[in-house]
Amino acid sequence: MTAADFDAWAGAQLAAVEDCLGQWVPADAPAHLGTAMRYAVLDGGKRLRPLLTLAAAHAVGGLRIASLRAACAVELIHAYSLVHDDMPCMDNDVLRRGKPTVHVKFGEAPAMLAGDAMQALAFEVLTPDAPSNPEATVPAALQAKLCGLLARAAGHAGMAGGQAIDLASVGRPLDEQSLRDMHHRKTGALLRASVMMGAACGDVDAAAWSALEVYGNSIGLAFQVIDDVLDVTQASDKLGKTAGKDVDANKPTYVSLMGLDAARRHAFELRDQAHSALARSALRDTVWLGLLADKVVERDR
Ligand code: IPE
Ligand code: IPE
Ligand code: MG
Ligand code: MG
Ligand code: MG
Repeated sequence: MTAADFDAWAGAQLAAVEDCLGQWVPADAPAHLGTAMRYAVLDGGKRLRPLLTLAAAHAVGGLRIASLRAACAVELIHAYSLVHDDMPCMDNDVLRRGKPTVHVKFGEAPAMLAGDAMQALAFEVLTPDAPSNPEATVPAALQAKLCGLLARAAGHAGMAGGQAIDLASVGRPLDEQSLRDMHHRKTGALLRASVMMGAACGDVDAAAWSALEVYGNSIGLAFQVIDDVLDVTQASDKLGKTAGKDVDANKPTYVSLMGLDAARRHAFELRDQAHSALARSALRDTVWLGLLADKVVERDR
């Protein structure tokens, strides 16, 4: 497999995701709510989470109509989390995905509501009305499984819980165990769920399922460690968001805990753990998952 093969695969997947999001995120929700939702989620971001879902589904021969819905749902939750993360009551950021943040563009109350509505839309996307063509149906048990995986990753045990710890930790150094726990929740949980939702769309035995959980945990933590690194090393125009925010806001990060070089090395160790987990999974085609693990730590934005 070459880099060009990966780019061709990823390009085709993301075109399908973009097409579905374009159809499902409403333009006509009242009082510009739809405009704010579309602004927040369409045409932006690296789309890593949908790619993880679709790569995991590829590895397990997953049901395409289900994995495409799962990929869009996880991106909706992620985009909602960014809208709220940027608000003045949280990180107070003005730049996201190279554009003014949603609250800067539309106001604070519309940004809060756009986030709320995107969260609900994610679960609507996972539970479509029964179509007239039964072959286009996502089985009810799979719908429920996908909703459960996503809800647990988004809520108090995952992203929202991690964000609560993040805000409560401003100016308070955390030891490695507490920082790891915060990162696993605020970022890792949704990345792991991206993988597991893709896996749920196919047949996986218990050993492969737990190997994929290890893979998802490892890249999930590595992703936030590199986010901490890039906040220090990259410029805002490259990141599409304000660089240097963590130091300014006095946030505990892997860079403040262990320094830049050790943080980077730690992310690469986590990437190696992710590769080992894939090897253990004995799944037939994990090449895209392997390349995505590399991209998580080698990225420059
Ligand atoms: C940024 O996520 C927020 C974190 C969870 C660290 P991404 O770096 O994936 O943001 P987009 O989706 O590419 O904008
Ligand atoms: C945010 O972490 C994680 C989310 C759940 C959105 P950060 O606050 O570090 O994300 P950025 O750096 O603003 O993208
Ligand atoms: Mg934050
Ligand atoms: Mg932030
Ligand atoms: Mg950050």
